[in-house]
Amino acid sequence: MTPKEKESDFFFHTYKRLPLEVERGEGCYLYTTDGKKYLDMFSGLAVNALGYAHPAIIKAVDDQVRKYTHLSNFFIQEPQLQLAERLLSLSGFDKIFFSNSGTEAIEGTIKLVRKWGKQSGKKIIFGMSNGFSGRTMGALSLMDKEKYREGYEPFLPNFGTIDFNNTSDLNSKVNDQTVAIFLEFIQGEGGIVGATQDFVDSLKSLREQFGFLIVADEIQSGIGRTGKLFGFQHFDIVPDIITVAKPIGGGLPLGAIIGSKKIANVWTYGVHGTTFGGNPVSCAAGVATIDTVMTDPFLKNVSESAEYFKSKLINLKLKYPIIKEVRIYGYMIGIELKIESTVIVEQMLQKGVLVNSTANTVIRILPPLIAGIREFDTLLEILENVLSIQN
Ligand SMILES: Cc1ncc(COP(=O)(O)O)c(C=O)c1O
Repeated sequence: MTPKEKESDFFFHTYKRLPLEVERGEGCYLYTTDGKKYLDMFSGLAVNALGYAHPAIIKAVDDQVRKYTHLSNFFIQEPQLQLAERLLSLSGFDKIFFSNSGTEAIEGTIKLVRKWGKQSGKKIIFGMSNGFSGRTMGALSLMDKEKYREGYEPFLPNFGTIDFNNTSDLNSKVNDQTVAIFLEFIQGEGGIVGATQDFVDSLKSLREQFGFLIVADEIQSGIGRTGKLFGFQHFDIVPDIITVAKPIGGGLPLGAIIGSKKIANVWTYGVHGTTFGGNPVSCAAGVATIDTVMTDPFLKNVSESAEYFKSKLINLKLKYPIIKEVRIYGYMIGIELKIESTVIVEQMLQKGVLVNSTANTVIRILPPLIAGIREFDTLLEILENVLSIQN
């Protein structure tokens, strides 16, 4: 059987795999078993911030694997302490809990806010329309997309969604029963759509009025992807809880819940936990990632290269009316088309550039943060080439 036949035979058919057999990765490139080279501009879905085989990650993983790969959370582990210290001092937040993944960070946060709300009788939790929180039942309860929810009913009680960027919907739904509002300040899966400052301002004043918690889902937008440590830092607001995952483990599984003082004492011994969460090898790779990303001028380069790409994309939009809108927040880039984006994405893949399709019509580009003008120029050349042959 070929690998493709084996895949189809062995696995539940949950993933539509790309037609590439990857042998290895280096920097921003993937190399396949048939000798081809691909520019990877979605970086393992926003995970590989430092690209492939980055020396800092290799060293951190190698060093830690030789010490211990797992101890269990009965033990204090140095890599967890190092990563926690960095994330707390950079965010100015108070407490952290490490999970294995994004959805598990969301799930834990749902438990955390529910327990916090019990003290004051608050129980309603909101997510946003078109948002993405993950695949567990709690995460699905925050979402409204039928594509992900259909067939999994019933969802958790006391959940709802608010129309993203619709201030009157927000105002009409939120009250003193509201315990928390979860949102991506820049929606990823939803098509790279940012919150409006108007919406954020309403959120802030309602929080003041009713005292609920704001949870910033930074799983896709966090750890430098937008040119700042967190996506919400582009808006004038400080949330109460931050969830992170994807790049935080340097390519290994890791997530985290980062909480402010307000909820610092809600969890006590035994009320939440996980076997693998905070794996020491993942944390060591996370420390290498954070230290690289937060060392000047790394994020300055991200912002400058993103500005360069933005100006090129604006020109491309003028030239190709098939492009409806261009949305860029650092290295979270959405090109909304007037046609289904898979058509373009598949043709770009054939020409050696990997980008992603989301929200039907959006080309989603999530480059490794080590990518720069050279990689954007390669992408632009192929994109223009593909656009020019559409009719
Ligand atoms: C904003 C956001 N939240 C949550 C998740 C879920 O994370 P994971 O796939 O690690 O469970 C994702 C994954 O794409 C995401 O983009």
